Amino acid sequence: MTVQDSLFMRAATHRPVERTPVWFMRQAGRVLPEYRAIRERMTLLEICRHPDLCAEVTLQPLRRFPLDAAILFADIMHPLVGVGIDLEIAEHVGPVIAAPFRSPSDVERLRDLVPAIDLPYVLASIRILKRELEDRVPLLGFAGAPFTLASYLVEGKPSRDFLRTKAMMYGDPAAWNAMMERLADIVTVYLEAQIATGVDAVQLFDSWVGCLSPQDYEMYVRPHTSRVLRAIARTGVPVIHFGVNTAMLLAQMKDDGGTAIGVDWRIPLDDAWRIIGHSRVIQGNLDPAILLAPEEVVRRGVADVLARAAGRPGHIFNLGHGLHPQTPIEGIQHAIESVRELSAAGAARDGNLASVR
Ligand code: CP3
Repeated sequence: MTVQDSLFMRAATHRPVERTPVWFMRQAGRVLPEYRAIRERMTLLEICRHPDLCAEVTLQPLRRFPLDAAILFADIMHPLVGVGIDLEIAEHVGPVIAAPFRSPSDVERLRDLVPAIDLPYVLASIRILKRELEDRVPLLGFAGAPFTLASYLVEGKPSRDFLRTKAMMYGDPAAWNAMMERLADIVTVYLEAQIATGVDAVQLFDSWVGCLSPQDYEMYVRPHTSRVLRAIARTGVPVIHFGVNTAMLLAQMKDDGGTAIGVDWRIPLDDAWRIIGHSRVIQGNLDPAILLAPEEVVRRGVADVLARAAGRPGHIFNLGHGLHPQTPIEGIQHAIESVRELSAAGAARDGNLASVR
């Protein structure tokens, strides 16, 4: 079997599957005691600078759970680290920029990224992982989308209302577009390098884009994001375009160039499917908070998502956003077991029906 025949890659290319593939955003990290043990000794960015450790952390969730994809352990801020932006990932906060962008000339701090020189350790981790995974499950690469990266650069830290970001967007569209163009170039070469090094599919995280109206998405963000997505789709690997709170943006996102759309739990999966249509694969969309609930609630949540997917080809099971660090290991186990059992039963039923017809 090659990785192209894996459940994930088949679902990601609309081919039939005997059960729905499942992986979870943030499957590596603080939910796992074995990760927390490593994190006691070094920061997240330090772990990533050690390819052997980075590969180990990527594989930790696959040793515990029967997941259908591995996701490279890194952070969306890495390409910015690569071009020399001084930042840290602060504990329980997130990315914090030492000198946030406050004037149009700050945009010039975004020089071109040369992944082999600026982020050799990320590419080295991919090489180790492709060897270790032995074509059993695909390795996913990822990057942050221009808007979400811009929001950290301008705000300097995580934000609720993105006021500084929007002030720049509305107040100085020329500087905004210059920044977004540079970010789009950086993200494109970063993803191209991951793909050239061996990742089997990629996800573009536009985590915070849901703070925008459809009109503003159209005017200030969409041209840049779709330039990235179209460039990456030309490589031929599946490209998942994900955002949080994007129910009102799905009609645009479906045509932005991703081959798959990741949706959060605020929209029922069948409603999302109606908007997105069948030419795109859909990934989602269980509320990650459900994994903190008793087993029967987790199972019901999974059953609901699968019922709304209704056995259509091109569904990748995931959460609507990343695992919460407080999630109990059993919650993760119950969710994965439920996806495996219920989707296999559904596929068998559909198969039987097909043979009866
Ligand atoms: O398992 C995986 O999903 C792969 C690793 C991964 C990390 N970050 C490691 C990480 C991935 C895919 C990301 C993406 C990322 N990083 C996003 C997009 C996904 C999303 O959640 O919307 C964003 C917005 C970031 C920025 C960021 N980095 C945030 C908001 C935080 C959380 C802050 C906190 O402490 O709660 C981080 C830190 C981070 N990145 C952690 C991990 C495992 C946790 C902190 C740590 O271990 O030090």
